[in-house]
Amino acid sequence: MELEQTYDRAASYQENYGRGPQFGAERRAVPQVPRKEFLGCPVRSRVGIAAGLLLNSEWILGYAERGFDLLTYKTVRSSFRPCYELPNWVFVEESPDEAGTYFVTDDLPDDPREVSSSVCFGMPSMAPEVWRKDVARAKGGLAEGQLLIVSVVATPLEDWTLEMAAADFVQCAVWARDAGADVVEANFSCPNVCSSEGSIYLDAESSGYIASEIRKAIGQTPLLIKTGHYADEGRLGAYLHALDGLADGVTLVNCLIGKVIHRDGSPIFGEAFVEAGVLGRTIHDPCVKSVRKTADMIERDGLRLQVAAVGGAATADDVARYFDAGADAVMMGSAPMYLPDLAAELKGTRPDF
Ligand SMILES: Cc1cc2nc3c(=O)[nH]c(=O)nc-3n(C[C@H](O)[C@H](O)[C@H](O)COP(=O)(O)O)c2cc1C
Repeated sequence: MELEQTYDRAASYQENYGRGPQFGAERRAVPQVPRKEFLGCPVRSRVGIAAGLLLNSEWILGYAERGFDLLTYKTVRSSFRPCYELPNWVFVEESPDEAGTYFVTDDLPDDPREVSSSVCFGMPSMAPEVWRKDVARAKGGLAEGQLLIVSVVATPLEDWTLEMAAADFVQCAVWARDAGADVVEANFSCPNVCSSEGSIYLDAESSGYIASEIRKAIGQTPLLIKTGHYADEGRLGAYLHALDGLADGVTLVNCLIGKVIHRDGSPIFGEAFVEAGVLGRTIHDPCVKSVRKTADMIERDGLRLQVAAVGGAATADDVARYFDAGADAVMMGSAPMYLPDLAAELKGTRPDF
């Protein structure tokens, strides 16, 4: 099947950064809907795009015009970081084998809402002098009721202490806020980096410490923490308690991790990245479960955290499942790439979202 694709997967990250999203000629009108609230801010809808697809202000503003109201600027760092070699984004079969291995495919389902994929970019970033100006441009182009969320991450060297990593997070968070971010999202999870910034969320104490340092520095600006999958409920509880009163919410789940290979057994992203983040339809059910578990814990323990749900949302039913599970907002990572009019469509059928 031919999919509409606004990101050219055969081209480099830099080319996609430079040319912006490639939308088709047709654009669906965006219906007006009643105002809602997320993180204490008035918003047109509680549906948005997670960190990833929106590489810069061109991408942010293109999707904002199409009715997405919570727009996350792809993760930025305190220094330039190139992207990994191609391929960076591949489609996978929906069902993994018994060992949890995913197979790359070009044979896509007829319905784009059923697509699953895998990414391996390595969290590239423009230099701060570039992204700080560009974040300001993005903010300047958004309408009232649309939120700019800027995702940031530290870039620790091998001999860095936790304090040094926290200071690097703080630097990026302050720059993001000063450039116009309505919300800062600190990325404590990324499956495709081998260094420690990819798994901070698994350490409750360090997560709490970094969140407290960011909170001290950014004052009242809302703070989200991007979080990966928790297999263990006890550890998830400890993590949420560590963030309580420091962050305003958690964004989860940031992909599930699996082996991603060709049918002949060779790894698609190279030997260094046999395991990668898996996205889309195949992760939706487990992510709804995680969101429900998290929202239930927050309610049970009276924690002051909101939940931005992520993982395989591509239909009104998916979004409704997340709200029913206790989410305060629903973010989409990959679906808006091939369904750029999805927000406008949802506003037509579900103005309550
Ligand atoms: C092209 C692409 C790049 C991504 N880059 C980032 C990133 O820089 N930071 C981040 O926190 N998540 C990143 N993600 C993960 C998404 O934010 C999201 O967690 C993931 O796609 C799962 O959502 P989905 O199933 O709706 O796609 C990326 C996803 C995609 C599709």
